[in-house]
Amino acid sequence: MRIGIIGAGQLGQMLGHAAHDLGVECRFLDPSVSPPAAECGDVIQRPFDDADALAELAATCDVITYEFENVPVAALQQIAGKVPVFPPAAALRSAQDRLDEKRLFDELDIPLAGYRAIDNREDLEAAAASLGLPMVIKSRRFGYDGKGQFVVLEPDDIDKAWNSLGVQPLIAEQWVPFDFEVSCIGVRNADGDVRIYPLSRNEHDDGILRVSRAPVDAPELSNSAADYVRQLLEHLDYVGVLALEMFVKDGCLLANEFAPRVHNSGHWTIEGAATSQFENHLRAVMNLPLGSSASRGHAGMINLIGNIPDAARALTSAYLHDYGKTPRPGRKLGHITVVSDSAEDRDALVSKIAESVTQSTSGPETVT
Ligand SMILES: Nc1ncnc2c1ncn2[C@@H]1O[C@H](COP(=O)(O)OP(=O)(O)O)[C@@H](O)[C@H]1O
Ligand SMILES: [Mg+2]
Repeated sequence: MRIGIIGAGQLGQMLGHAAHDLGVECRFLDPSVSPPAAECGDVIQRPFDDADALAELAATCDVITYEFENVPVAALQQIAGKVPVFPPAAALRSAQDRLDEKRLFDELDIPLAGYRAIDNREDLEAAAASLGLPMVIKSRRFGYDGKGQFVVLEPDDIDKAWNSLGVQPLIAEQWVPFDFEVSCIGVRNADGDVRIYPLSRNEHDDGILRVSRAPVDAPELSNSAADYVRQLLEHLDYVGVLALEMFVKDGCLLANEFAPRVHNSGHWTIEGAATSQFENHLRAVMNLPLGSSASRGHAGMINLIGNIPDAARALTSAYLHDYGKTPRPGRKLGHITVVSDSAEDRDALVSKIAESVTQSTSGPETVT
């Protein structure tokens, strides 16, 4: 069995490690030189939409999946007739466009904050009037880690938002003064079996995920989140791992976005769950029985952004994952996971590690 993976970044690398443990070979498609997943299998070093490279991947693999959501849908469709491709192209298409994504939430009665499509400057004025301020303007496509976003706090910001983002399809969203953010990761195989991971609580800074903790001790929120993820998985006839990001406000969930792939807020599952999201994604696309998604203790995950300080390598009570990427400000280079017997112990450890990591990255290399 050989799995073809479009994209060979850190998510591809962690899928590759899980594949190795399952005794499955991986082959990747990625234009970058020496990407993180190169240590896990052969990489076809061509653009993601290169017809010949895609045909080669399809001809040499038993099933194709992808590790990031900016794979051109047409590229997937090109190979879908020759080899199974999971998750399905329809899921990728919705996730690639924030407007389609929000319309899908509406269709499934998954609650979310108000939004408007923005095609011109007048639409911006109208959105401000109907949604109220603050609102956040986002590019509909290609945004990640908070990129392509502008928060409109007051009417004067409308010009700034238009000048900084204009001339591309945009969406305006009501600003949610959330109490905290969570994500729910689910997995479904072709037989329709589903597993839902415990809810993860996530802290972002500057649009980039910094810390995740799981499980969240909130049974009602967890049940609602699991229901929403199940609805998405069934509706999309989904195969693979899907992550739903949500805001929590006054005890209620509001959907933000979903990712049709393994997700940063699920990295804790490698050591903190009975079966990692990476292994379960592979099991799903190979239509193998899914492993348990139950947590093993209380997990915390700290992203290492911009550089990996020596302090991270000196830790003994934690699991360091170094993706082997060249340091660059704002770049996710690795993460640290801790698993404790209690939430209190986990939180104490996360604070200690986050502090030492932050302190040692506070030089000019640091991202704010
Ligand atoms: N409408 C909003 N209200 C409040 N915070 C938001 C809103 N939209 C985004 N954010 C903040 O910015 C982060 C990144 O935005 P998100 O829409 O998830 O884009 P990305 O695709 O870059 O992850 C969110 O996790 C959240 O912290
Ligand atoms: Mg997000």
